[in-house]
Amino acid sequence: MMRLSPLQSRLAASVAASCLLLLLYLVLFPPNFALAAELNGPSTNVGIDELNFSINPAVRGLLDPTYEARFVDFEPSITGRAADVIPLANNEPTPMNIDQGTTMPYVFVLPGGMGRSRMELRSESDDAGAGAGVTDDGDRDDTNPHDSERSLRKRQQSRTVYISANTCLQPQPVDPIKTQSEPPQLELYVSTSPDNKTPGPLADGKTQKKVVFKQGAVVFNTSAIDDVYIGIYAPDTGDQFSGQYNVRLAASVDSLYYTYNDLDDADLVWVDSDSQGALLITHNLTQSTNPEEDEAVMRSQPYVLFAHNKKDRSINGLKYSFCGLQNYAQIAAMRDGRHNTMVRTGMTKRGQGNMPKQQFFFSGLNASADYIGILAKDAEDHGNLERRQSGQKRGTEVFKATNFSTKSDHGNCALVVDLDFCDQVAYSVPSNPKFGNATKLADFYDKYASSFYANFNKSLQQVACEAPSSQRYSLARNCTDCAAAYKDWLCSVTIPRCEDFSNTASYLQERAIDQPFPNGEKLDPKLRAVLPDTPAYLTSRNPQIDEIIKPGPYKELLPCDDLCYKLVQSCPASMQFGCPVPGQVGFQGNYVKHDPSAGLTCNFPGSAHFPSAGRKGVSSSLGYMGGIVVGVVGLLML
Ligand SMILES: *[C@@H]1O[C@H](CO)[C@@H](O)[C@H](O)[C@H]1NC(C)=O
Ligand SMILES: *[C@@H]1O[C@H](CO)[C@@H](O)[C@H](O)[C@H]1NC(C)=O
Ligand SMILES: *[C@@H]1O[C@H](CO)[C@@H](O)[C@H](O)[C@H]1NC(C)=O
Ligand SMILES: *[C@@H]1O[C@H](CO)[C@@H](O)[C@H](O)[C@H]1NC(C)=O
Ligand SMILES: *[C@@H]1O[C@H](CO)[C@@H](O)[C@H](O)[C@H]1NC(C)=O
Ligand SMILES: *[C@@H]1O[C@H](CO)[C@@H](O)[C@H](O)[C@H]1NC(C)=O
Ligand SMILES: *[C@@H]1O[C@H](CO)[C@@H](O)[C@H](O)[C@H]1NC(C)=O
Ligand SMILES: *[C@@H]1O[C@H](CO)[C@@H](O)[C@H](O)[C@H]1NC(C)=O
Repeated sequence: MMRLSPLQSRLAASVAASCLLLLLYLVLFPPNFALAAELNGPSTNVGIDELNFSINPAVRGLLDPTYEARFVDFEPSITGRAADVIPLANNEPTPMNIDQGTTMPYVFVLPGGMGRSRMELRSESDDAGAGAGVTDDGDRDDTNPHDSERSLRKRQQSRTVYISANTCLQPQPVDPIKTQSEPPQLELYVSTSPDNKTPGPLADGKTQKKVVFKQGAVVFNTSAIDDVYIGIYAPDTGDQFSGQYNVRLAASVDSLYYTYNDLDDADLVWVDSDSQGALLITHNLTQSTNPEEDEAVMRSQPYVLFAHNKKDRSINGLKYSFCGLQNYAQIAAMRDGRHNTMVRTGMTKRGQGNMPKQQFFFSGLNASADYIGILAKDAEDHGNLERRQSGQKRGTEVFKATNFSTKSDHGNCALVVDLDFCDQVAYSVPSNPKFGNATKLADFYDKYASSFYANFNKSLQQVACEAPSSQRYSLARNCTDCAAAYKDWLCSVTIPRCEDFSNTASYLQERAIDQPFPNGEKLDPKLRAVLPDTPAYLTSRNPQIDEIIKPGPYKELLPCDDLCYKLVQSCPASMQFGCPVPGQVGFQGNYVKHDPSAGLTCNFPGSAHFPSAGRKGVSSSLGYMGGIVVGVVGLLML
């Protein structure tokens, strides 16, 4: 079995937890206990193969996630004894292998209730005299007739039982070329009827509910006054797929243990990528303006992330399963994840509103490839006693996938983040591998932008910022607003956002078309022939890019026009900022009209590939081929 090596190192930590559980099972399942205690006592090396009996899988599962239960063959109608069925403990996920074409039977005994199985077991244990010395608050006073009556009433109170499961392993295609589909999903059967203790495809449909897993996950709730019988059926795939299923099932009276969210928009946003890297970011993790809460969120890293090349089909059918993703996803950003050198995660406040977010920075991806990123929350305790006792919600949650892709391998767009001055910049910029690494590149652009800011800052000092309101340049805006608007505009204008030359989106501006790509190639003459010989096409907006970095032909995602309007509105008229308007000289090739519903068609601080309703192209009816009155309106005059 792939990836599921025994976690011996966790044994020590688990032993304490196991003891607690064993105590619990002593109460619930006295006959099994003696054996389990022997096995889990001092010697933990008992080979599973020696076992012929159902030691409690929940306990076993804490010790060894690869545990393959070996039960005596299950004969439903003949035996039907509790010992043949796998008992589920509240909030304890139980891992199990299931062969194709078989049904794994489970029972969940309502904790604290007076389930039938438990009463049966109790009478057995009383016979054995095991009751002595065992603390069992719920039933201690059964001898008292009044209390008996009370527990009878209690028994009839129904409770909601939450059942959830994740498929961790699934059969693999025998012939991956021929079999393009994914293996069939497992099926969950639930019965609360004493007449159907072994729900499954063969049992009476009237006494059970059936739910088919979705992408390796199932959630179900039912109200029960007594034992809940569960069957998980693994369909027979004939000779198409070989191997077993492995599933983790959890029942709870508190909440669903394994959840997934396929309704909300993806919580993960693709910011940008280059030919081997990508930057993804979560939504705002808090809207709180309380600095303490803010700080607490900044110290947390609530999410883990899985990423996978879309061409590889191995996670198909398991996209909502936490352990399935753990086993099959190519890249996992988690504490002990696979290939976690390929992804760095951390917190950031970059972006609109400066709210805390978690970001994921990938490297080592394939060029021109499509990926999915799947965000998840991991609150499984993995035998960690502290977490278990803390009373926090336990379990995992998997969110809807986000698509992202990498750029082509011309290598002339490179992601930069964490700039000192232009701290909102986190996107691909024109680059050349010969120039140096991403740090050096970021530094080049940052220095260039901040050199302009120094001049502006001097001018701003001459404006009456701190004057009484009657003498200020505006009642609505002050110098802080002006400085912020200028910085946003400046960084967007001096640090071009780079796209592949092969990207055909209409809102992109071709740049440096006559220069060679980093590998020395020139633009295909056929493509070149249809482009005009104007400076907007022949050069970069900032000449230093062509002289020093020499990226060669690229396309620029132009700054949004509203960055310029905001600048004009926020700063004193004496600074004489002005903006070109659509259709006039200086707009085309310098700005794109900001239309949030069109998707990412222009660049602004914190912009990303936010999910959008429609994907219309930006209006190209501007018609006018403006010359290059470079977008540095205002920049020149300071
Ligand atoms: C396994 O169980 C069967 C029947 O319950 C029993 O006859 C057999 O001796 C057991 N094997 C071992 C190794 O305990
Ligand atoms: C149980 O699930 C149903 C849908 O299957 C849902 O409407 C209901 O709110 C759930 N009950 C609880 C207590 O969550
Ligand atoms: C990159 O491509 C190779 C060959 O197609 C493939 O084997 C590998 O899994 C891919 N890696 C990633 C991270 O996409
Ligand atoms: C974060 O919050 C800010 C301000 O409330 C909002 O403008 C922005 O769109 C939010 N960003 C995301 C990614 O949700
Ligand atoms: C992601 O891409 C797939 C096609 O590969 C598409 O079906 C799906 O709708 C896309 N998801 C989003 C959120 O755009
Ligand atoms: C980038 O290159 C510089 C030297 O030019 C080096 O000091 C720095 O450590 C490099 N950074 C990374 C992230 O490789
Ligand atoms: C702008 O000038 C003020 C006053 O001279 C100074 O305190 C501030 O640090 C300057 N800002 C930048 C970004 O240089
Ligand atoms: C400028 O105005 C903003 C509100 O628009 C306010 O938060 C800020 O404190 C003001 N700055 C100064 C220096 O007055």
